Amino acid sequence: MKPVELKNDIYWVGAVDWAVRDFHGYETPRGTSYNNYLIIDDEPTLVDAVHYDFVHVTLENISQIIEPERIKNIIINHIENDHASGLEVILSKVPDANVYMTEKGKKALSKFFDLSKYNVHTVKTGDTLKIGSRTLHFIETPMMHWPDSMFTYVKEEKLLISQDAFGQHIASVERFDDEFVQSYGIELLEDAVYDYYANILMPYGNVIKAKIEEVKKSGIEIDMIAPDHGVIWRSHIDKVLGWYLEMIDAKAKIGAVIVYDTMWHSTEKMVFPIAKGIQDEGVPVKIIKLRATPKSVAVKEIWKYRGILVGSPTLNNNIFPSIADFLTYLKGLRPKNRLFAAFGSYGWSGEAVAQMYEYAKTMKLETFEQGVRVLYNPSEEELKKCYEFGIAFGKALKEYHAKF
Ligand code: FEO
Repeated sequence: MKPVELKNDIYWVGAVDWAVRDFHGYETPRGTSYNNYLIIDDEPTLVDAVHYDFVHVTLENISQIIEPERIKNIIINHIENDHASGLEVILSKVPDANVYMTEKGKKALSKFFDLSKYNVHTVKTGDTLKIGSRTLHFIETPMMHWPDSMFTYVKEEKLLISQDAFGQHIASVERFDDEFVQSYGIELLEDAVYDYYANILMPYGNVIKAKIEEVKKSGIEIDMIAPDHGVIWRSHIDKVLGWYLEMIDAKAKIGAVIVYDTMWHSTEKMVFPIAKGIQDEGVPVKIIKLRATPKSVAVKEIWKYRGILVGSPTLNNNIFPSIADFLTYLKGLRPKNRLFAAFGSYGWSGEAVAQMYEYAKTMKLETFEQGVRVLYNPSEEELKKCYEFGIAFGKALKEYHAKF
């Protein structure tokens, strides 16, 4: 894609990655983009580098505006590889450029590059950099979502360059939120924001909330938010802030998500009567089979609804591997305010259900016990027991949901 002007003389010069489906183990069925921004002023300034594999794209985009050798400053808002791994290639064009990042950013990035060869400056909240007619303001955002992270605010343009925050893993020709909404609708954009938050930012909700409040209190005016992934916010800023505050507070709709896997369909046979029981209690249900669905999609759905049920066979005295993988992933994301239940089939010992409840307890989730277990293959009587389990879970979920 060609550069796109987002403000007078400020350009998106990033790259769209149409093909990525595995983003450090997190599935990205819609691809992504690696955004960075070029500000043309007395001192041309690049905000964020780019993924190493796409540095040629960024350099080509910059070349369409100015010769890359004219860049005077490079701001590194976030050092993760998808944004900073192309830095050294860019610096090979401008070895004398001034590079700005947080102290933690410098310390961490030094483990990837020999930064002593370059003019690296550290900045903290409140520091500014005058680049001509514009002044850049730096706002540290530690653990949003890495220790090094920061925002760059261009006061004269009311532009907040927010690194990963407010990003979405979307590959699209549309660069702005309103363009994307016009093409695909607001629901798809909301889904992408939930997907990104649930899989990347969920553990740091309190930090993000405090930072949003700090930025609001500071009185800075924002009419555009330019993240490092996906579309740029210029028409739906209030909406994305509202979504964030809802997600941070772990708000959820009444509903249950059943995530399961199966060996010889026995656990799968349990799923449908359980779902029917929940549905008969008037509670919507979604069913997700792992191995057929990316775990990132399962996490996103869980983050939308109040109830989680996980189904796993017992394999060699353990949880089935795909479910164990999913629960480990979910545990790291620290979900909260959800009601959890487990079920599964087994052949001889049947430890998986109890082990899944142990996961839920380490996540400090509310649990609905005892989970239902079936030996080998569910009989008619056991399928009825599954239905009753679904009814009971649906009732408990309604009571639990009413507390919020
Ligand atoms: Fe898009 Fe945390 O990197």
